[in-house]
Amino acid sequence: MEKGVESLPRTLELITDPQSGLAKLCFVEQNQLPHALVISEATQAQQITVAIKTLAVRGAPAIGVAGAAAIALWAINECEGTDAAELLESLEVLAAQIIATRPTAVNLSWGVKRVMHLAQRLAQEAAGPAIIKQALFNEVKLMEAEDEAVNRRLGKIGAALLPEQCRVLTHCNAGSLATVFFGTALGVVHTAASQGKIREVFSCETRPVRQGARLTTWELSRAGIPCTLLCDDAAAVLMAEGKIDVVLVGADRVCKNGDTANKIGTYNLAVLARHHGLPFYIAAPSSTIDTSAETGKDVVIEQRSADEVSLVLPDNTQVFNPAFDITPHDLITAIITERGAFKPSELAAVY
Ligand code: MRU
Repeated sequence: MEKGVESLPRTLELITDPQSGLAKLCFVEQNQLPHALVISEATQAQQITVAIKTLAVRGAPAIGVAGAAAIALWAINECEGTDAAELLESLEVLAAQIIATRPTAVNLSWGVKRVMHLAQRLAQEAAGPAIIKQALFNEVKLMEAEDEAVNRRLGKIGAALLPEQCRVLTHCNAGSLATVFFGTALGVVHTAASQGKIREVFSCETRPVRQGARLTTWELSRAGIPCTLLCDDAAAVLMAEGKIDVVLVGADRVCKNGDTANKIGTYNLAVLARHHGLPFYIAAPSSTIDTSAETGKDVVIEQRSADEVSLVLPDNTQVFNPAFDITPHDLITAIITERGAFKPSELAAVY
C-alpha cells in the first residue's frame, strides 16, 4: 500500500452531488476507526451537528470547517423559496446551535462566524439568496484548501525544531483526521518523517474515548511511521527512561497569554515534560488562537457524558469527565503556527 501522508483520506469534503444537485459533506466517520474506514455523507445541517456532538467528526480544525459546511448545507439544501432576510434569520439561529455543540475549540465558532459574516455582508449589499448560497459553498471550499495549506506550512516550521532521530510523545489525535488534511501536531510529524527525522512516535491512549489509541495509531500506521501506544499513565516512565525527545501536541484554543486548552491529560504531560527537562510544543493554526481569551480562565471546558468514562457504574457514582484541560503558558516551550514558532510571551505581539 502507498505510504506517507498522501495515503490518508481527506477528512472532509464538500461536493455537489451530480445526481441530486444537492450540496453534500463527505466525512470520515471517526467513531468507526480503526476497524473500518467509512465515509459518511450529510446533506442536512442537523446531520453535521450530530456528527460533531458524537465525535464522528472531531478535532478542532475539522469541526471548524464542518460547522461552516453545516451553514452552507442548510442554506443550499434546506431553504428553498426564502428571501435573503429570511435566510439570514434562520442561519443565525442555526449558527448559535452549532457553536453550542462543542464550546472549547475556538475553531468551531471561528468557522461558523466566518461564513456568517460573509452571508451578512452579501445580504447588506442586497445580494439575492442564490448568490449567498453559492458564496457559502465557495467559502467552505476555500476553507478546506486553506486548512491544508496552513497545516503544511506549520508542519515545515515545526519539523525544523525537531532533532534528528526524534522520538515524539503525542496525545489525542492532532493529525490529518483532526483537520481537513495533513494535521497540526502530526502534520509536524508527517513533515519530519518525510525528511527522515522521526525514529518513533509514542501515542498516549487518551482516555476516555481513546483518540490516541484509535486514531493516531491508525493514521501513523497507514502513513508508515513507527508508532508505539501507551496508557496515559505510562508517560512518566517513558520520559524517566530517556525514551522521549520532545512532547508535541495540538490545541483547541490558545489564549492571548499562551495558556492552551487541549485534550484532557495534556496538562499532565506538560508538567512531566518540565520535570524531565523536555521541550513541550503546541502546534496549531492561527484559527486556534483566541486573543479575546486573556488566559485559560476565560475558556469554557466542555464536560461530557459519564458513559464515556465507564458503561457500568455502581449506583450514584459521580463522574468527572472534562474533555479538555488548560496547560499554563509557562510550561510551553513554543507554540508552532503557520506564521512561526513563538514563545507564549511573544504571541500577543503577533496576534
Ligand atoms: O475531542 P476531540 O477529539 O475533538 O479533541 C480535540 C482534539 O483533537 C485535540 O484536543 C487536539 O489535540 C486538538 S485538534 C488538532
